Amino acid sequence: MHRDDFGTDFTWGVASAAWQIEGAWDSHDKTPSIWDHAGHHRRVSGGAVGDDAIDFAHRFRDDLALVASLGFGAKRLSLSWPRLIPGGTGEVSSRGVEFYREVFESCRTNGLEPWVTLYHWDLPRSLHERGGWATRDAVEWFADYAESVASVLGDVVGRWMIANEPSMHALHHLLGVFDRTPSLTRYVRVAHHQTLAIAEAARRMRKVLGEDAVIGTTHQALPIWIRNENTAWGSRASRAWDTAMNRMFLDPLGGLGYPWGEAPLIDRVLRTVVRDGDEDAATHRFDFLGVQYYQPQVVKRAPIPGLWALPIPPLRPPKSFQPVTTAMGWVVEPSGLSDVLRRWAGHPVAERLVVTENGAAFRDELTVDAEGNRRVHDALRTWYYRTHLAEVASAIADGVPVDGYFAWSYADNIEWMLGRKPRFGLVYVDYDNDLQRTPKDSALWFQRFLSGIDVDA
Ligand code: NOJ
Repeated sequence: MHRDDFGTDFTWGVASAAWQIEGAWDSHDKTPSIWDHAGHHRRVSGGAVGDDAIDFAHRFRDDLALVASLGFGAKRLSLSWPRLIPGGTGEVSSRGVEFYREVFESCRTNGLEPWVTLYHWDLPRSLHERGGWATRDAVEWFADYAESVASVLGDVVGRWMIANEPSMHALHHLLGVFDRTPSLTRYVRVAHHQTLAIAEAARRMRKVLGEDAVIGTTHQALPIWIRNENTAWGSRASRAWDTAMNRMFLDPLGGLGYPWGEAPLIDRVLRTVVRDGDEDAATHRFDFLGVQYYQPQVVKRAPIPGLWALPIPPLRPPKSFQPVTTAMGWVVEPSGLSDVLRRWAGHPVAERLVVTENGAAFRDELTVDAEGNRRVHDALRTWYYRTHLAEVASAIADGVPVDGYFAWSYADNIEWMLGRKPRFGLVYVDYDNDLQRTPKDSALWFQRFLSGIDVDA
């Protein structure tokens, strides 16, 4: 495998999100986000670990130089809404703007194109207290935020993603991460309001930024694996789960409306929130769809008779699949990546695709030899990237329009509710030693590959 197999204009980048890396949780004029609040209320393993995270807010110059030294040409980052608009709505913080302008300037100095996500799950807590994504007001709050960002940062950023994985974010709401009680109704309401907000925000940004800006949005693309797919139960459950995790997020954006009739429990709530005209308002054609792939979703039969429409994801994959799993128990199945690329190519939400996240957490160990050299031998992660990239190359060879690939993540960081435990980075962060950075073997593998050396596929 050679980097030219991906085309010469292909974007090679690494990704991260504000809350997971920045720290400085109350610097500039920032107010708490829902994740700061969750950390402070022990909904995050380790508690307030997001307060400092990996201190990107102070170390971004070194981090960006390190990313560039590995051969990447792009850095995906997200903006913290409460850092930019501390009140949630209204006035923009000039200190917040200044911070991000410095970050983007440093990206450019290092030859990294910034790819910026407007919203990676860190709603201002004050807006959550006013109902958050479960209220329709969130559509307007978000569109106003998008418009403000476009006016203050549009001159230094050309590539945008409106939202990160709205399906996972709806799932946080379903699980009750911010409200303590689980609720399927909340899941559906949050999903619908996010969809309306994403379309409206993209329109508002386009108005401010004009035709040159590249505006996409991202989706967690889940291939659904069902045991007994050929049975009546299997095919119904597969369609219902696909609706709940994929189609109800992308079909309305693509102008196809909701996939009514596929998942009755979801339909029941949707009917109470979708108003006349919403399916039109939710439609927006994006410049690209950011496809994020980690694992297939394995679904087992629901144990309760009649509940075929609510497929239950097993905690462990059924034995018959015999997969390799990550430190988080996630199934490693590289072919799932080309499956999702082939599947979403041609969907009306966008003509072009970019892999905006792909990566894995493994049990990494830092070793220090007698000379004090620090190494992390993460052979499994290198294998993971090699095999997944081979799938991207094969999709491209078949004509799938994929324009870029972003590894998740450039460095170990705070994995939401799971805190510091899962390590997704190409760069190791030593949490016991002043957050010291050490590029893992997988980072050095990328460095060789990106320098144009042939590697085994
Ligand atoms: C997707 C999310 O966008 C990212 O924030 C998260 O860390 C990775 N998945 C890994 O779970």
